[in-house]
Amino acid sequence: MKIILVVGARPNFMKMAPILYEIKKYPDRIHPLLVHTGQHYDKNMSDLFFDDLGLPKPDIFLGVGSGSHAQQTAKIMEKFEVILLENKPDLVLVVGDVNSTLACALTAVKLHIKVAHVEAGLRSFDRRMPEEINRLLTDAISDYLFLTEASAVKNLEKEGVAQDKMFFVGNVMIDSLLQNLDKAKQSTILSQLQLEKQSYALLTLHRAENVDNRSAMQEILDALMEISKKIQLVFPIHPRTKNKLEEFGLLPKNFKITDPLGYWDFLHLMSQAKFVLTDSGGIQEETTILQIPCLTLRENTERPVTAEKGTNTIVGTNKEKILSHALEVLERKKSQTQIPDLWDGHAARRIVEILLNLI
Ligand code: UD1
Repeated sequence: MKIILVVGARPNFMKMAPILYEIKKYPDRIHPLLVHTGQHYDKNMSDLFFDDLGLPKPDIFLGVGSGSHAQQTAKIMEKFEVILLENKPDLVLVVGDVNSTLACALTAVKLHIKVAHVEAGLRSFDRRMPEEINRLLTDAISDYLFLTEASAVKNLEKEGVAQDKMFFVGNVMIDSLLQNLDKAKQSTILSQLQLEKQSYALLTLHRAENVDNRSAMQEILDALMEISKKIQLVFPIHPRTKNKLEEFGLLPKNFKITDPLGYWDFLHLMSQAKFVLTDSGGIQEETTILQIPCLTLRENTERPVTAEKGTNTIVGTNKEKILSHALEVLERKKSQTQIPDLWDGHAARRIVEILLNLI
């Protein structure tokens, strides 16, 4: 069986790594080809993760880079079609909800190649998010849908997806987290940044709806400025956010700002934080397992299990709301969490076993 595995942007790498390791246990049965679209290309958005995760160099690099949604999606499709025609895989496996996910799934189905989507069925019900469009469309055209949480089963059932396409397997991002925790503990990032554990809050922001609009950004920053009077904010900054904050003249001076960090450094920083403020999807899941309170600076989440069972609170983007939640969490002694079903470090094994049986 020849499988093309697609990665493109930062959150894809830690999802694909455990799947590739599992596949490599079956060299006589599965021949994997790793394709990197190049959606993310900076060293600290891509190469650092290949190093930390021990991912091999991609077999094929498409080098598409940045652009508008249409440009980026179209460029990926054009280049990926050539790869599919040359390699004739039995299956294309995509992960997550980035433009590379949809572009490669769409290219494959049009050539009648089967598609598996890992992390299917998540819905924020907010169609202004590019990721929501990518999720809806990728799920609609995929043959095999691998699900991380119960809400995904319900969402897909409502959309009329056949039961025999859905497989509730758990969360590959948590496979990576559990596999890398010991290595992350050896990170020296705290001393490099002169931080004591529990003495800081970790901040990440990169969603278009938060950072592309000046007034939305200003509202969030006003709250963060107030919070930073009470606790040091550590802000590894996404290139998109850095560009926008510089353009708006809003780059905050009293936060500890760093370049985007590698996987181990970031995991360590997260695991030792008092709390996390973020608009990322994956970080809501990781903090649930690490038992670190997470305040999500969005109006919704496509990962509701992190709020139902885990440490996540959806606080929105209103200044007063962000502030009141941050003050509560600053006083909190311990956060209880329940581990969501099947977030046990074996999701990739289940996926590969299912693929071996199906194809
Ligand atoms: C993308 C995903 C988002 C995911 C995020 C993780 C889509 C629609 N969005 O958002 O779901 O959560 O990745 O990071 O696929 N840039 C660089 N260097 C890079 C990559 C990007 O400087 O290596 C800058 C460029 O200015 C680029 C901008 O960041 O225009 C946005 O990059 P893009 O890939 O379009 O989206 P992200 O915001 O990274």
